[in-house]
Amino acid sequence: MITVDLSRLTGWDFHQIEKAMAHRLAAAHQILEEGTGAGGETTGWLRWPKECPAGELDKIQQAAAQICRDSQVLVVIGIGGSYLGAKAAIDLLGGNGPEKTQVIFAGNTLSSDEMAALLAQLENKSFSVNVISKSGTTTEPAVAFRFLRQYLEERYGEEADRRIYVTTDPQKGALRALARAQQWTSFSVPGSIGGRYSVLTAVGLLPMAVAGIDINRVLAGAREEMEQLSRRSMENPAWQYAAARNLMYEAGKKVELLAYYEPTFRFMAEWWKQLFGESEGKQGKGLFPASVEYTADLHSMGQYVQDGQRILMETMVSFQNSGTSLSLPYRADDGDGLNYLAGRTLEELRAQAMAGAAIAHEDGGVPNIQIQVPSRNPESYGALVYFFELSCGLSGYLMGVNPFDQPGVEAYKKNMFTLLGKPGYEALQQTLKNRSKSRKKAGKRNILPNVAKVD
Ligand code: PA5
Repeated sequence: MITVDLSRLTGWDFHQIEKAMAHRLAAAHQILEEGTGAGGETTGWLRWPKECPAGELDKIQQAAAQICRDSQVLVVIGIGGSYLGAKAAIDLLGGNGPEKTQVIFAGNTLSSDEMAALLAQLENKSFSVNVISKSGTTTEPAVAFRFLRQYLEERYGEEADRRIYVTTDPQKGALRALARAQQWTSFSVPGSIGGRYSVLTAVGLLPMAVAGIDINRVLAGAREEMEQLSRRSMENPAWQYAAARNLMYEAGKKVELLAYYEPTFRFMAEWWKQLFGESEGKQGKGLFPASVEYTADLHSMGQYVQDGQRILMETMVSFQNSGTSLSLPYRADDGDGLNYLAGRTLEELRAQAMAGAAIAHEDGGVPNIQIQVPSRNPESYGALVYFFELSCGLSGYLMGVNPFDQPGVEAYKKNMFTLLGKPGYEALQQTLKNRSKSRKKAGKRNILPNVAKVD
């Protein structure tokens, strides 16, 4: 379903790519499938589209139907892998129509204004909450959930518990313990599936089902893609993508720009950034994943892409079919000089803009990979998710990292917990205090907001 075109990978033809990368990809694919590579215990997502139990899908559909009966709004609380994929699907596939239960997302910021606006927005609306956290302990969603739970109880009293839906680890974490104690309806993220690889579990499927997306079609698309991508050869589009981006990385490229032409793809790009950024950005390695929305960004970032530092490679995503077809009208006066385009569709215009940008960027030293997706429909969404996940697993192994952990994320948390006075972080307070003192000595501004506490 998903196809890859490497004909604009400057300096490399298909056979050279195959010669350089096929044997490495064969090894990477084997350890990924066998679960013998780094992080192999968290590769459950590889088989999930086939292994997802039918009973789980029924339970998700039933919960979604209940939420839609009860509520005008579903607030989905989660951060990173616990929200980006569902948000991407709903934006891309056009859930959230006026007559449907509206799905809104919270818990991905610590902004007071956002929380106040959310609570105000809920004032005259019936609502339910789906709190999603694989670990069950992440601060941002936990804080948001406390606000929302309090508000649910004020609004609904004892009925509040019936409006809470939890998606978390099957056994561990504060959220699982709470769900058990309060008897909230709950879903499990399998232990073998990490956060950013979890969108095809209840993490993504429940919000999607509430937004009216056919989740059976999403999984059917992922299953079909799984078949396509099981091939152990360079005919496999995931091999092609993983090979191309690693070749560019090894040739000195530092940034991969994901360029897309559908504004509804914006959050899919955010999801992709997390997937590749968290999976590969470690041990001083990794392409920095960034995104651009064309054609808008051709008028803002286009100059840099064409002519700035030559550290970029570009991956362009396009959809083969639009759901609509609009032709430019003819005008007798032709004051804007556009009659040479009259009768041509916007799709046609965009296709030429895309080809023009690809050629120009290649000429300017930005090699590009083209990824084609059939349509903006649930099957293609499921296929694209699976395609990127497999490509990322393969690519991470080619780069020599564990694509399934994220040790670097802990560093800011440690400091934040220390500064906030979280029990268990007392020892680190002295370290921060010493740092604060040496900054002061060096005449630098004190950047620690509550250093009094640390002192
Ligand atoms: O990929 C990951 O594991 C992370 O990015 C998580 O998705 C993110 O940190 C949220 O974690 P949790 O679902 O445990 O709240």
